[in-house]
Amino acid sequence: MDNSHPMIELTIDGQTVQAAPGSTILQAAHSIGIDIPVICYHEATTPNAVCRICTVEVTGQRTLLPACVAQVAPGMQVQTQSERARRSRKVILELLASTVDLAEAPEIQAQMADYQADPQRYDGTRREAGYFDDNPFYIRDYDKCILCWRCMQVCADDAQYVNALTLGGRGFDSHIATFYDQPMPDTSCVFCGQCLGVCPTGALKPKRQALMEQGQPEDVIWLATRPPRRKERKP
Ligand code: SF4
Ligand code: FES
Repeated sequence: MDNSHPMIELTIDGQTVQAAPGSTILQAAHSIGIDIPVICYHEATTPNAVCRICTVEVTGQRTLLPACVAQVAPGMQVQTQSERARRSRKVILELLASTVDLAEAPEIQAQMADYQADPQRYDGTRREAGYFDDNPFYIRDYDKCILCWRCMQVCADDAQYVNALTLGGRGFDSHIATFYDQPMPDTSCVFCGQCLGVCPTGALKPKRQALMEQGQPEDVIWLATRPPRRKERKP
């Protein structure tokens, strides 16, 4: 935000708000206590506006605008709860539910309840992007992945700068991948765990937690979650 220039005045849901130039509609809304739903947005990552759940209606604009990246402008009139914006969010949620396992995504489930989204509305093909258990630290269950990109971003320039993750496939088959689909120990991953911290759906999970949920006995979990170096150590 640039504080050296005059503040910008706009209205959000009829309330007048002053926002610094360069602020997003989302930031301006938060400053007066108005909540706009988000999915891909995370305060620790650069917003890429891939989910579109945060779109709002702006008077005079032909299309809905994604509040997490659209910047405020003088005289802007924003409606966060217009019928069009709410219908758009509901459809996005229903499309997500039609393809992805959201059983471990409590925030999205709460949004579905709020928007009365019907998870059965679209009866289509479900994404089967694979379950990867290739290291002692975490599992990747991409059937639960909504492609929010948060993990890729913290793995790259938003935090860790190791770039172990990338996007694979195209269109419906797009998925988070490693380069050349290498097992995670063969990539640049340093197992910092930051991707797990930002994943909103349970697609990334500590291995210990995953094995406990499967009901595995403690000795199996202990062996499976030991780092390789310690496995090689003589008793
Ligand atoms: S694995 Fe999690 S953080 Fe990564 S893109 Fe999928 S849902 Fe988002
Ligand atoms: S939260 Fe704005 S596009 Fe996803």
